[in-house]
Amino acid sequence: MPAEIIKPTPENLIRAAKLLQEGQVIGMPTETVYGLAGMIFDECALTRIFSVKERPHFDPLIVHVTPPEQHKDLLTYLEDLDLIQVSLLSHEAQHRVQVLLSQFWPGPLTLVLPKSQRVPDLATSGLETIAIRMPRHSVAQALIRAVQSPLAAPSANRFGRISPTSAQDVFEELGDRIPLILEGGRCEIGLESTVLMITREGELKLLRPGGISQQQIEMTLGTSIKKSLGSPLKSEAPGLLETHYAPQKPLILLDPDQLKQTCLGKKKLGLLIQSGNPEKIRQRILDLLGNPSVEIIAFSLSKTGDMDEAARNLFSTLRALDQSDCELILAEPATQDQGLGYAINDRLRRASKKDLR
Ligand code: TXA
Ligand code: MG
Repeated sequence: MPAEIIKPTPENLIRAAKLLQEGQVIGMPTETVYGLAGMIFDECALTRIFSVKERPHFDPLIVHVTPPEQHKDLLTYLEDLDLIQVSLLSHEAQHRVQVLLSQFWPGPLTLVLPKSQRVPDLATSGLETIAIRMPRHSVAQALIRAVQSPLAAPSANRFGRISPTSAQDVFEELGDRIPLILEGGRCEIGLESTVLMITREGELKLLRPGGISQQQIEMTLGTSIKKSLGSPLKSEAPGLLETHYAPQKPLILLDPDQLKQTCLGKKKLGLLIQSGNPEKIRQRILDLLGNPSVEIIAFSLSKTGDMDEAARNLFSTLRALDQSDCELILAEPATQDQGLGYAINDRLRRASKKDLR
């Protein structure tokens, strides 16, 4: 039976929670992308997450928590949930985590911290650390509350594919493999969370750019952070493969100088631009190609050049182009290579590496 997409009514949340408590995995909306949720301390559920996604076991999961019911120090709260071991963090590290959590949670910041003994190795791929985030989407929070357990949830796409930003996207990716998807509307941010590692000594490493920018983190802490992007140590960021977030069609970063050569013999092109009117750029590309008979399907991420809107539209636009009948996707990188622009470019760069897989 294909997955049911259901509204997050109180009755449906109870139904969803029951399925999770039986070890099932379901589609859960968050403000970043939709997740494939299962109970963190249930090894059957974790095994299911990996098999449903066809995800290799070396790629660890993110666990999702709700805000505490009563006002509580967030580090103590995470330790009470049996997710982390605070004593393994130096005072400096503890202080930094506290500052970051109070500033950015709930929201799109995932922290990688020393894990507690109870967290199954399956969730962390055998690492001594666990990635945690507190989503701010009300449906994600309501679901975690209803289950009364933190939920492990990777993005709800098949491994290496485009992350889903609507319930329908989850259905297209995994509809034949899961029982339920909770409807939570289109994702407000549209890019996965920022993943930041804090070592025991308090050193910071950016493992994945996302909804919260490096600059925001640095401003908050008054210190600079190290980037582990591109070629992070395998032991630090096992899942951050060079190729990821890829459409099935080949994707190439738009380079006007190489255009003629790249598009040689192609009759139908997909074009993703960051801002402005797609029609105008379509015409410019045709002029550059010098071949008016080429068909171009063009999308702009934000006509007005709004970065939030561009990020929100990135994955759905890639999905639309992938489902069109173009032979090749040309993607223009964001001109501003910082903040959300940097996160967008990270996804596009990885998508363009697909052919190296
Ligand atoms: O926005 C998000 O983070 C979404 C929503 C559903 O919350 N989730 C998500 O999960 O993007 P996923 O599994 O697609 O990406 C998790 C990333 C992976 O690249 C993984 O390698 C990294 O987080 N990660 C998880 N645990 C880690 C750990 N202990 N150390 C280093 N990296 C870790
Ligand atoms: Mg993912």
